Amino acid sequence: MNAHVLQADLSSALGNGIGVRIDQVLKIFETRDEDEVIALQGTSMTIAPGEFVAVVGPSGCGKSTLLSMVAGIEKPTQGSILIDDKSLDGPNPRTSVVFQSDYLLPWRTVIDNVLLPLAIKRLNVESYRERAESLLAQVGLAGFGQRFPGELSGGMRQRVAICRAIIQEPGLLLMDEPFGALDALTREQMIMDLQSLWLRLKNTVLFITHGIDEAVFLADRVVVMSPRPGRIDLEIKIDLPRPRKWNEIHQDDRFAEAVARVRRRFEERGILSAS
Ligand SMILES: Nc1ncnc2c1ncn2[C@@H]1O[C@H](COP(=O)(O)OP(=O)(O)O)[C@@H](O)[C@H]1O
Ligand SMILES: [Mg+2]
Repeated sequence: MNAHVLQADLSSALGNGIGVRIDQVLKIFETRDEDEVIALQGTSMTIAPGEFVAVVGPSGCGKSTLLSMVAGIEKPTQGSILIDDKSLDGPNPRTSVVFQSDYLLPWRTVIDNVLLPLAIKRLNVESYRERAESLLAQVGLAGFGQRFPGELSGGMRQRVAICRAIIQEPGLLLMDEPFGALDALTREQMIMDLQSLWLRLKNTVLFITHGIDEAVFLADRVVVMSPRPGRIDLEIKIDLPRPRKWNEIHQDDRFAEAVARVRRRFEERGILSAS
């Protein structure tokens, strides 16, 4: 099996992205001492099929809560979330999630971790084995299929987690600070790899990060959240052509301007100090 077969396979999935509509969502957590935490209030956002949206915001503003609700793991207290025009009542089978921790199963080989979602759904795992190997090769892990997660670096493990998330070509990929725990060089490589994968898959991505540069680099649109209770504070459309190159884009005025706009908003909200 070669990469061409996989590419043909994936390009048949073009336009496969599914839309998301978040409408006036309120999320209140009850805490043990009967206090309430208002995590999100009046949060609305629409993501077009195939769009790559990055959400940035300060720690604790409700980013993970938002993602959990879109994933169908948490329920809004008020308001609604529509995936593919249908209201959400539990995880959608065409949605995958990548978390900051890779959550690989240490007793399964790399390839069996990638194939895990199929095993859980009792699908024919064998028919996906070649695709799993191709995906691993595409993220620089050719030949690592029979290793165990404990033998891999953090960056390699996170790549395995991404392969596991896209093995079934999800229409919606949710990523919660997936590169937050990686060193700078590995992060840069992963950002480039994610761009290539997305350019091929063209699925819908909701990417949560506190890295302003990676948000602007990857996204069609950057959504900036206010401090808790999180609301959408600012949206910036990123019209830079793709494929984008990490070192070249830092010389691009449009990139610098978008990054500066997010930083200014954080300064205005007292999240970053201007000095
Ligand atoms: N299960 C929970 N129970 C109580 N409070 C929670 C729970 N999950 C999140 N919170 C609170 O909601 C707020 C938003 O959290 P979170 O969505 O994790 O923020 P972020 O991902 O932006 O850092 C925080 O104040 C957090 O403590
Ligand atoms: Mg979080």
